[in-house]
Amino acid sequence: MKAYEAVKKILGKKKSRPQEMGQAYAPVNIALCKYWGKRDDELNLPVTSSLSIALPNKGTTTTIQFNHGERDHISVNGEAIPETSFFSERLVHFLDLFRGTKKTHFDIWAESSVPIGAGLASSASGFASLVLALNQLYRWQLDASSLSILARLGSGSACRSIAPGFVKWLAGNKSNGMDSYAEVLPYSWKNLRVGICLISPHEKAISSRQAMQQTLDTSPFYPAWPQLVKHHLKSLEKAIADQDFELLGTTAESNSLAMHACALTAYPPICYSLPETVSFKHKIWALRAEGLSVYFTQDAGPNLKLLFLVEDEDKIINAFPDIEIITPFQGNDELVT
Ligand code: PMV
Repeated sequence: MKAYEAVKKILGKKKSRPQEMGQAYAPVNIALCKYWGKRDDELNLPVTSSLSIALPNKGTTTTIQFNHGERDHISVNGEAIPETSFFSERLVHFLDLFRGTKKTHFDIWAESSVPIGAGLASSASGFASLVLALNQLYRWQLDASSLSILARLGSGSACRSIAPGFVKWLAGNKSNGMDSYAEVLPYSWKNLRVGICLISPHEKAISSRQAMQQTLDTSPFYPAWPQLVKHHLKSLEKAIADQDFELLGTTAESNSLAMHACALTAYPPICYSLPETVSFKHKIWALRAEGLSVYFTQDAGPNLKLLFLVEDEDKIINAFPDIEIITPFQGNDELVT
């Protein structure tokens, strides 16, 4: 119900003739300071603010059209999604917010360049691209913060995938969530690299939604989390403004370890790491002890994302031959607008 109210508030009395089709791309985003815990489960309102970096060439393109049938048809990477799957139910429930009438149904094609549900932010880019495609289909012409709020209703971290580069999701404190959206941090960082270490492409056993709730409800460490996040956000914003890589890396890694420490101490415990994840971490720490400036961050899955600078690229490829390297910012170190 609250989600309907939020949509109504944003779309107001907008009534324009829809287009034939909407199509949009949104990148995945990797949190350097994680969103872990909700203050409102229906609106996906977070306990704390968070901060991420977008990976421009990793993401989802969503195409949407009206259909004249009895239900929505959804396909992902060319495969029809069964109506009864959890994935389809979640999407249909989200689309209910925008149908106008109960008879309106959609055909949706999503093409994603990251594995689904493996902690590689596929749902963030998926919901963000869907909202951007709906914005086109219905010709809403919404501003960035409204689009971010709508994407948040699908998946919290999707609100950060509306924009490129470094993005901060402001937690806000209003109960309707109208002040909880993402903002671009106006900095770019040409030499920065993100490496994806794919340890397993399989779907995670426990969703981030369930895991963060379980952590919030039961981890004895969770009360320390919001304080820690405040401190990490300050450090990350300083690191980004000063292009201080050591500060960025140490803070992002430490934030990720703290999130996983909270999850591990939940009851029942939540452990997203596989044995290979742990050995990769040891390898990263060993390389760092030898003087290589490389850090990791981990989300709700076993895969790691490495942070390093372009000058160390050869050494990183040597150590992790299967790594996929992303350049988050092309061009110069000018401000992102
Ligand atoms: O937006 P969700 O429900 O997929 O949760 C995302 C949770 C993390 O990826 C672990 C952290 C984050 O901020 O992206």
